[in-house]
Amino acid sequence: MSSVTLSNIKKSYGDVSVIQGIDLAINNGEFIVLVGPSGCGKSTLLRMIAGLESISGGTLSIGGDPMNDVHARDRDIAMVFQSYALYPHMSVRDNIAFALKMRGVDPARIEREVANAAEILSLGHLLDRLPRELSGGQRQRVAMGRAIVRHPKVFLFDEPLSNLDAKLRVQMRVEIRELHQRLQATSVFVTHDQVEAMTMADRIVLLNDGVIQQFGTPLELYDYPCNRFVAAFIGSPGMNFVDGTIEHEEGIAALSYGDGRRIELNPEMARLPAAGQAVTLGFRPEHLQPCAKGQGFETLITSIETTGFENYLYCEAQGVRMCALQFERLDCRVGDSIHLRPAADKLHFFDQVTGLRLESEAPLMRTAS
Ligand SMILES: Nc1ncnc2c1ncn2[C@@H]1O[C@H](COP(=O)(O)OP(=O)(O)O)[C@@H](O)[C@H]1O
Ligand SMILES: [Mg+2]
Repeated sequence: MSSVTLSNIKKSYGDVSVIQGIDLAINNGEFIVLVGPSGCGKSTLLRMIAGLESISGGTLSIGGDPMNDVHARDRDIAMVFQSYALYPHMSVRDNIAFALKMRGVDPARIEREVANAAEILSLGHLLDRLPRELSGGQRQRVAMGRAIVRHPKVFLFDEPLSNLDAKLRVQMRVEIRELHQRLQATSVFVTHDQVEAMTMADRIVLLNDGVIQQFGTPLELYDYPCNRFVAAFIGSPGMNFVDGTIEHEEGIAALSYGDGRRIELNPEMARLPAAGQAVTLGFRPEHLQPCAKGQGFETLITSIETTGFENYLYCEAQGVRMCALQFERLDCRVGDSIHLRPAADKLHFFDQVTGLRLESEAPLMRTAS
């Protein structure tokens, strides 16, 4: 087990730069989730840590030792892929044992290691089967078994759950977390799914266009997104955004939006951007609640979604779309008018031009830079 440190790590293909100078300090034993939209450079970064991709600039160290020039097989890292990458003609037992056999490990120890991994992953009754005789979830477990027997310093996972159906994904998410509790091995897990990131990570690295947007615990990113990209990426349905201008009058703050409409904001003035500033106001669906006429946004309901547990009202005010989450089943229909107000202490303000968070007080906020 080991810490992993990236200092100004860069990657370009020809003159196309895909990783733009990443600084990241991963603690020994931490479970890090690297998340971001498709094509943002997650796999590239992971493959550089693994040694499967050369590093164009910067320094990578594992357990304090520089790794840039160390061959992949000597980095003591195990990687689990989306495709599982099992040997189709080998039994589960031989797949799991493969890396140890190649290293010439003593057969008695191989048997012990395979039995131990099979026990951890509940594969004991499947050891004599071939990969094609297993379900997707079982194949994924075999792929993890191959990693476990090596006792690597670092586990890397590249979207290992993406080929599984939704229910199994939720189950494997829990299993991988429990496996981590047990092994306490430093892990970097790549996904494009923010729910996987939120539920699995000790800390999340949110990447976009090869640049870290924010590095922090799941709730730091959820509660204190440091820019509009993070605010929009984390959470589903996403945060609501309304562009407008801040007004302060006689101790009352408001946002003017649309064709001159105003809503009172009313948090402490100290937490508000300056009067006259053009901002994007953000608030999450669970913080938007029905209110009396004359307060909040006057909206029309454009659609309603219910899961039985949660009810989402999709509404429109002055051409601005917003979503409200309700746990009670409201007596309302599409086309109804409804007044909705965001909770005063759950407002986020972003600069309309740069997208950066404006509010200065964010006690837990941490960014990578
Ligand atoms: N071998 C390569 N040659 C050129 N461009 C590449 C190569 N591999 C990846 N890229 C580009 O690098 C960017 C990041 O890719 P990748 O790391 O696979 O993204 P992600 O895993 O986040 O979806 C993409 O724009 C991709 O097209
Ligand atoms: Mg990828």
